[in-house]
Amino acid sequence: MEKIFQKFLFIFIFTKFISAYEITPFPQDFLFGVATASYQIEGAWNINGKGENIWDYYSHYSPSMIKDGSTGDVACDSYNKFKDDVQIIKDLGVHIYRFSLSWSRILPTGFANEINHDGIRYYNDLINELIANDIIPVVTIFHWDLPLPLMAIGGWTNPLMTKYYMEYANITFHYFGDRVQHWLTMNEPMSFCTDTFENAQQPFNVPQIKGIGIYLCAHTVLRTHALVYKMYKNEYQEKQKGKIGIAIDSRWYEPKTNKTEDIEAATRALEFDCGMYFNPIVYGDFPEIMKTRIENLSRSENFSISRLPEFTKDDKELLQGSYDFIGLNHYSTWLVSDGSSKTNWRTPSYARDVGGIMEADPKWPNSTMSWLYDVPWGFYKLLTHIRDRYKNPIIVITENGFAQLEIQDKKRIHYLKGYLKSLSKATQDGCNVKGYITWSVMDNFEWFEGFTQRFGLYYVNFTDPSRPRIPRSSAKWFKKFVHTHLKNNNKFLVVQV
Ligand code: BGC
Repeated sequence: MEKIFQKFLFIFIFTKFISAYEITPFPQDFLFGVATASYQIEGAWNINGKGENIWDYYSHYSPSMIKDGSTGDVACDSYNKFKDDVQIIKDLGVHIYRFSLSWSRILPTGFANEINHDGIRYYNDLINELIANDIIPVVTIFHWDLPLPLMAIGGWTNPLMTKYYMEYANITFHYFGDRVQHWLTMNEPMSFCTDTFENAQQPFNVPQIKGIGIYLCAHTVLRTHALVYKMYKNEYQEKQKGKIGIAIDSRWYEPKTNKTEDIEAATRALEFDCGMYFNPIVYGDFPEIMKTRIENLSRSENFSISRLPEFTKDDKELLQGSYDFIGLNHYSTWLVSDGSSKTNWRTPSYARDVGGIMEADPKWPNSTMSWLYDVPWGFYKLLTHIRDRYKNPIIVITENGFAQLEIQDKKRIHYLKGYLKSLSKATQDGCNVKGYITWSVMDNFEWFEGFTQRFGLYYVNFTDPSRPRIPRSSAKWFKKFVHTHLKNNNKFLVVQV
């Protein structure tokens, strides 16, 4: 009896020890990192030859679009403070820094006829500083800050964007590819296509008809991504030995009840989110469910052709398998119930096409963002869905994080612990995930929310001209977590061919 008690006591103490030190197993070659994006942190919006982008324009000419009327003119001033930023990243002990290039800092008008050499110098300095500090640069070529002239021609709904983006991407491979070995062509096309062309309240003459622009945008973005993937493979990969993918965002969609209609609605929601981008790059086309549903609805709305553009045979061949790895940005989960007969959805829209009603379970811990809840099991379900549905591709979690203002950010730590546990379990269950990059290293300009929403491991005081970075509790926690899991000194997140 005493022996059984001793054994029980040992197991109890051991389990407590494990959970206190957050020992969550990850594969030997697994890497950790932190992320940002150019417009959200750099500032220096009109310095040394940088051109104007759509976010400069929105924030200057339509300040009412931004919750606190703020701009990214200075943001975290990372253009001037990038060396300090590399040091805080180093101090966290992570392997990776994911950042994006500002298109209009490199090509002031968006077009490749004029290169701004200060932009090239800035990113060269940043990349060299990272490498000198043993941090792997993961570079996003486009993270939403489109050069203004390109929006004036319709942005991503204009098929000519493919050519202009290819020229820009080519310049980035040429100047930085000798040291950058991990590339992401685009960040979250689902989000920027929706925000610009479906839910837009923007001062641009772009196709803002619901249920149309969002799909034209997806079509151009996907073709462009595939062509850039091909260009990198053919012209750079052998020499530069890098890997290239795209960062796709998706939520998990859980049926609200066991009713068949709700289960079907949740499946549709997932196919219209995750599937809209995963399916084309893995299998070469939009998901069947999207094609049939939009075709049928378009006909019933008196359109002569489907509102969803088709890929040609050549496009399909190009798209299929157009990735070395896939970046997954995941934050939260929705409960879905059937909404296909909602009466105010008579007119065409993406929401009508999906036909689902999204809500959060009131029991889920919430963040300060209306769409962001702490639901770690949704992350596990999404990862295993991707494993089973999309040929278990190499995945890097390129964003995951939580919004909370306080320095003692217990809710963020709770979120990170839960999501990392789910990720650990998913890798043990065979999901081919190679790395985890949290959003964000520091508070930054949160798009339409301005500075009212905070995602940083480091708090930034935006009223202080020197923009001090102050570690939150989560920074200390994440540092310890990464330290406990430091198994290797890989220089490659995605192993070389
Ligand atoms: C975007 C980031 C953004 C974060 C938090 C992601 O969708 O890529 O730029 O700051 O979400 O909203």
